[in-house]
Amino acid sequence: MALDIRTNSLEEHWMPFTDNRGFKADPRMVTRAQGLYLTNHRGGQVIDGSSGLFCAPAGHCHPKIVEAVHETMKDLTYVSPFGSGHPLSFALAERLSRLLPEPFNHVFFVNSGSEAVDTALKMVMAYHAARGHDRLRFVSRERSYHGVNIGGVSLSGMVNNRRRFPVTMPDVVHMRHTWTGTELFARGQPQNGVELAEDLQRAVDTYGAESIAACFVEPVAGSTGTLVPPVGYLERLREICDVNGILLVFDEVITGFGRVGGSFASDAFGVTPDIITMAKALTNASIPMGAVAVRDEIYQTITDTAAPGAIEFFHGYTYSGHPAACAAGLAALEIYETEGLFARAAQMSSYFLDQLWTLADHPMVRDIRGIGMMGGVELHAGPEGPGKRGQAAQTAMFHNGLHVKFTGDAGIVAPMFIAEHAHIDEIVEKFRRTLDGLDA
Ligand SMILES: Cc1ncc(COP(=O)(O)O)c(C=O)c1O
Repeated sequence: MALDIRTNSLEEHWMPFTDNRGFKADPRMVTRAQGLYLTNHRGGQVIDGSSGLFCAPAGHCHPKIVEAVHETMKDLTYVSPFGSGHPLSFALAERLSRLLPEPFNHVFFVNSGSEAVDTALKMVMAYHAARGHDRLRFVSRERSYHGVNIGGVSLSGMVNNRRRFPVTMPDVVHMRHTWTGTELFARGQPQNGVELAEDLQRAVDTYGAESIAACFVEPVAGSTGTLVPPVGYLERLREICDVNGILLVFDEVITGFGRVGGSFASDAFGVTPDIITMAKALTNASIPMGAVAVRDEIYQTITDTAAPGAIEFFHGYTYSGHPAACAAGLAALEIYETEGLFARAAQMSSYFLDQLWTLADHPMVRDIRGIGMMGGVELHAGPEGPGKRGQAAQTAMFHNGLHVKFTGDAGIVAPMFIAEHAHIDEIVEKFRRTLDGLDA
């Protein structure tokens, strides 16, 4: 790697979502990543317990993806997506629609989860406008994360991501989050809490159904520590949306591609939304890419109501459907299928959750939640206040040879689908050992 950290001050790169001053005083660099392991700049091995940021289930630097991107880029490094195209984006959209529930046969490509969310917001607006409806209010949820663009921040329910940025979209109503605190260490879906879906009904009763455009939820709230929906909750949201003409959007940026069982959370929970956003594992994290899939009726309504010859949807990005990203996406989906990785994840889930739950006796652990190959281990806040212990834990884990992403005091453990039992044991053992070494 072309960086000598003895001579580079590290000051010039302003790092995202990072304690820049802390990092630059104590750098945690990765110079190589293969399969489940990262190599740090001192040559040490770090097991990846969060699949990067829940995005690389097939392992880092999968040779088939590297090769597919390399081969593609010999012929194409760019095609303007506005008014021209290349075969790979059509192939990927077709392949995705086969993986998605019926009737999701239309896919719009973007470059990240944040762009997917903002694109979905515009699709919702365009759909209602095409039908002559004046629905402009959105419902989302506390403790949700929908990326960092202005639309997504407006929907999100994480205070630090909002408080310095007061210019958000108007008319967003937040339902309560689904972590009630009454069922600690509940594995899978909590039995209690279905009534929290009535917050959507309250929004209908308060503002009028005719003003509400869509309800955005992560089927499992990922970034705030794996908040699994209570039994019946998503079904009830679907019912309320149906009765009131509200579109239901599942933000599946984390839950898509086998993370919580099924291909998408929609399959795992048996609830089909109207729009699905995705990113992350779409390319096994190898090239930035996101996508929005919609029910046919949404595509058809927006397209058919435009004047003949007109552009139907005034939206898109310079790099929408970039050839390298499409090649990576096609290769990733091929790997998921031929290596049976979603089935492997579903089968490995109970061992993973069993091992994760062994941490329940640790005095620093306040709660554990989990479903599929995704678990949140929430620590009691330390004496320095909320979030500080989580931050210290993430740093200490890296030095102890484990990468786990913390948000606040919750560590989000999301092993790769290629993990063997021994890898899961190693993740849990290093997690516990790090907690043992933290200040009480
Ligand atoms: C549910 C959800 N939506 C959107 C995003 C934003 O994705 P990105 O960081 O690719 O913009 C994330 C990222 O973690 C996410 O978890």
